[in-house]
Amino acid sequence: MQEITLIKPDDWHLHFRDGDMLNETVPATARCFQRAIVMPNLVPPVTNAVTLETYRTRILAARPAGSDFEPLMTIFLTDKTTAEDIHAAKAAGAVAAKLYPAGATTNSDAAVSSLKSLYPIFETMSDQGMLLLIHGEVTESHVDIFDREKLFIEQHLQAIYDHFPKLRIVFEHITTKDAADFVLTADERIAATITPQHLLLNRNDLLVGGIRPHNFCLPVLKRNVHQQALQAAVASGSKKFFLGTDSAPHEKAKKESACGCAGCYSAWSAIELYAEVFETLDALDKFEAFASTNGPDFYGLPRNTNTITLVKQNWEIPTEIILPSGEPIVPFYAGQTVSWKLKG
Ligand code: NCD
Ligand code: ZN
Repeated sequence: MQEITLIKPDDWHLHFRDGDMLNETVPATARCFQRAIVMPNLVPPVTNAVTLETYRTRILAARPAGSDFEPLMTIFLTDKTTAEDIHAAKAAGAVAAKLYPAGATTNSDAAVSSLKSLYPIFETMSDQGMLLLIHGEVTESHVDIFDREKLFIEQHLQAIYDHFPKLRIVFEHITTKDAADFVLTADERIAATITPQHLLLNRNDLLVGGIRPHNFCLPVLKRNVHQQALQAAVASGSKKFFLGTDSAPHEKAKKESACGCAGCYSAWSAIELYAEVFETLDALDKFEAFASTNGPDFYGLPRNTNTITLVKQNWEIPTEIILPSGEPIVPFYAGQTVSWKLKG
């Protein structure tokens, strides 16, 4: 196949950051995505209608001229989130609230320390039809980092799922066979996003031949059997899996460091890399549903009506992108060749 035309995709999980960084991240995503679920883990986090609205205004101001890209806003759940916060955020256009166990990942210190105490909030969300987006990892220091997603399912996610029969949940950036199996077995209220890095890579790509800080993200890359399970999940054509890049930029100096930040900046190549994955899996016929229809169908939002076209053409991902601040970022797959290219 030399060209793929698909309904314009959306990115159901990404990090735009704030300030100057928006002038880099928003155009990068708007080049091929019509909408994106914007993660609220700023410092301080976006926790209510007021901060959500001002953040949305800053994102809209960073769109390229003529772009009708639409940010889909979320709020960050904390121990202090109230039912009123949920109502007000919903009225301000929030489509979802994000649950980070405290300390699970970048900028999550303000997050939830006791999941059970949030149950009244989940009840309100369920009544309001607001989706719950979950970073599914336990955070206890004695738990091996490679087991944290599996234990989260056993210790928390199963209970939340059982307790709230109407709550719609997105298990974000899943990384394990356990997570894929959980989602496949659960009913239609549960779906999952899958990133390009978890489809393309496994933990060898992080650690063999030297530490590769630009492949470090959370949840961390797992064994190849888990990578294969995620590939099988997307190749199955199940409607429960959809595109969420988790594009999460950090300045080069913060990645190439004695204590490097977690996050892969994939916005400039994600749609092309996903195409490559589906092609390798001989599943290009399932690509459009994953990228463009499963997400809006799960969220209860309209499908996009315009299209994008990818052409079979080699190009090289830049080795660095210079931020408006002058600081470099190393993008995901820097310097590597991709075989699909966005047309136009
Ligand atoms: C994300 C970030 O940098 O904000 N990092 C990451 O490794 N994915 C946070 C997150 O989604 O976990
Ligand atoms: Zn994320």
